[in-house]
Amino acid sequence: MKEQEERDNDSWDQFQQEDDSSSQASDRRWEEEQAELEYYERKFRLAEPAFRAAREPKNERQRFEMHRAEVQQLAEVADLESVWDITYTPARFEGGFLRSSLRPFYQQDQIVDVMAQVKGGKEANVYRCKAHSSVGVEWIAAKVYRPRQFRNLRNDAMYREGRHLLTAEDGQPQAINPRDDRTARAVNKKSVFGVQVRHTSWLMYEFSALQTLYEAGAPVPKPYGVGDNAILMEYIGDEQMAAPTLHETRLEEDEAGPLFDRTLQSIAVMLENGLAHGDLSAYNILYWQGEIRLIDFPQVIDIHTNRSAQAVLKRDVERVCQYFRRYGMRLDHSLLADELWERYAAPDPDDLAADLSRVLDVEAEDKTEEEEEQE
Ligand SMILES: Nc1ncnc2c1ncn2[C@@H]1O[C@H](COP(=O)(O)OP(=O)(O)O)[C@@H](O)[C@H]1O
Ligand SMILES: [Mg+2]
Repeated sequence: MKEQEERDNDSWDQFQQEDDSSSQASDRRWEEEQAELEYYERKFRLAEPAFRAAREPKNERQRFEMHRAEVQQLAEVADLESVWDITYTPARFEGGFLRSSLRPFYQQDQIVDVMAQVKGGKEANVYRCKAHSSVGVEWIAAKVYRPRQFRNLRNDAMYREGRHLLTAEDGQPQAINPRDDRTARAVNKKSVFGVQVRHTSWLMYEFSALQTLYEAGAPVPKPYGVGDNAILMEYIGDEQMAAPTLHETRLEEDEAGPLFDRTLQSIAVMLENGLAHGDLSAYNILYWQGEIRLIDFPQVIDIHTNRSAQAVLKRDVERVCQYFRRYGMRLDHSLLADELWERYAAPDPDDLAADLSRVLDVEAEDKTEEEEEQE
């Protein structure tokens, strides 16, 4: 009990300290906490929980304590509610969220068990799951996103430029109707609903990038399924270990050259499909049995609608070159990026002319229709 009290005091002191910096920051934090609480309530379908406090908090400290108690209770209820036994033992606050994110895949006979956590990052956790016998593979990787992950993405407006918002409809990415004002407003105002829409949208971009690139033959894990909060994909590795990243791998001398070429080819396939990775580096390339797999696509950008596309490509190529220079390769990343852009991404002047004449035709048609209407 004593320990518990000390811990409570610690967390309160920490809250106070951060809070003292400015009352504005405190308000923002409070709103975020509130948003997260509501998020969990909806997630676990506990819109009207009996334990929801009826009394109003008297002061900041009480508010903080009440909120903490609620979150804790929600996490426990979520755990109690679940009847799906999994082999992996989750950490205290991980269990409810993990199960609620993966249960749909369990119900749809895609996975039958969660075996181990492959990597617990700041942003997403990846788990090795046992696949259902109908899938035809032994293991599947599940990437489960933290509720707040994408709010931490620096410069997210840059990545979002030129993208539609995507939702998960029947397990497939769907663009939100741009005329849906309510959603657009909520997203801009960052309401709880808006935050969730944006969150799901990042995830859907990752999934649809995997689909496009897998079908195009690029070395990426095969995508199996997507939900509000998780992606299922091919697991790279075996029962003993998941594939390490390139960053964690010491390549043989004669492997480096071919793997560098393979990486550049993959970037070219992405460009041919109108995409740039946006966070490519040796940290997001897996190495397994002499082959590479590119992963981690939520910030993928559309090279035709995002004005920063060429700069993003340059940074991706630069980071890849940084890694391969360890093996004595002499690489001019700027030149390579320019060549790739020219070859695969720069608009063809003939295409531009064709596009322009199409636009002009459409405008002319619109005019005549208007004129006809007026008559
Ligand atoms: N399909 C996969 N198979 C095996 N391990 C994976 C797979 N996808 C991701 N991982 C592991 O999980 C880590 C985190 O995944 P990643 O998609 O890079 O998410 P983030 O970096 O945003 O946390 C990777 O570095 C890798 O070690
Ligand atoms: Mg990563």
